Amino acid sequence: MIAMKRTGVLAVIAAGVGFASSQSLSSQCQSGLTQLVLSSDTTCLNAQALVAVVTADSSTSLVNPINNWLTGLCAQPACSNSTLATVVTAIVNNCQSDISSLGLGNVSASELTSVVQQAYPTVRKVLCLSNSGNNNTLCATETLTNIQNSVGTLSKSGVESLVNQLSNGQIPNVPSSALCTDCNKESFNIIKADFPDLVSSQVVSEVSGECGATFVDGADPSSVTQSANTGTATPQSAASNDGVSSLGALGGILVSSIITVATGFAFIA
Ligand SMILES: *[C@@H]1O[C@H](CO)[C@@H](O)[C@H](O)[C@H]1NC(C)=O
Ligand SMILES: *[C@@H]1O[C@H](CO)[C@@H](O)[C@H](O)[C@H]1NC(C)=O
Ligand SMILES: *[C@@H]1O[C@H](CO)[C@@H](O)[C@H](O)[C@H]1NC(C)=O
Repeated sequence: MIAMKRTGVLAVIAAGVGFASSQSLSSQCQSGLTQLVLSSDTTCLNAQALVAVVTADSSTSLVNPINNWLTGLCAQPACSNSTLATVVTAIVNNCQSDISSLGLGNVSASELTSVVQQAYPTVRKVLCLSNSGNNNTLCATETLTNIQNSVGTLSKSGVESLVNQLSNGQIPNVPSSALCTDCNKESFNIIKADFPDLVSSQVVSEVSGECGATFVDGADPSSVTQSANTGTATPQSAASNDGVSSLGALGGILVSSIITVATGFAFIA
């Protein structure tokens, strides 16, 4: 299970970054996503900070840009359900062919909206955990840093070679100590509480075997705290079109972040 979990975590990161840096999005998808990134709807996702992730050069670590994105995202009030519906619908409507070409088949906007709306509060809670025992570093950043310390720089090219390894069935060697952290214990607690069906007793016993019984005892590690803004953003609907044409390449990262959010749960299953 932990091997699956490792592969899953890495695959999600790799898929997100790989897709984001691909330049092959349809023009309709690019312009639709660009409008979204520029609209006030995506302020609650801090979408504009994803620019630095997309535009990073191929050898620069993505950990800092991702940390900056998440730090800003957690400081923003949460997205409302109606904003999530607007964002998902715009992506599905503009990017249907791009999504199909990823092998995800035809996606129904209403089905995906419902999945995203159900997963969003949990994903946000997990992404906004921080560790006071580690200088208040976001847990996501801590975990990416641990993985990076084991597998090498998580740059675009580093992620690409990880993707290749994974698709050849090679599992990178990430030690249990890098993943069996207080941060991930609290993430596990949150996911188990919110989606008990995902965390079967079989999963619990496998995680326990890898990380020890304490990891699955349900206690909240005192050093791990929630950094998310507790407000909810007022839905906006008027999108600004300023500068749309100059930002075409931004699109992928937004899709990828949505897909990452949607598939992030797969690793625990
Ligand atoms: C996907 O949607 C297209 C257009 O709506 C349709 O022609 C095609 O049959 C659909 N494919 C599947 C697998 O549902
Ligand atoms: C958001 O939508 C989901 C399902 O689509 C629902 O379970 C949840 O209660 C809604 N949240 C709010 C705050 O209305
Ligand atoms: C802790 O965080 C502060 C503020 O972000 C930073 O200035 C400081 O260098 C950090 N300390 C360590 C040991 O990383």
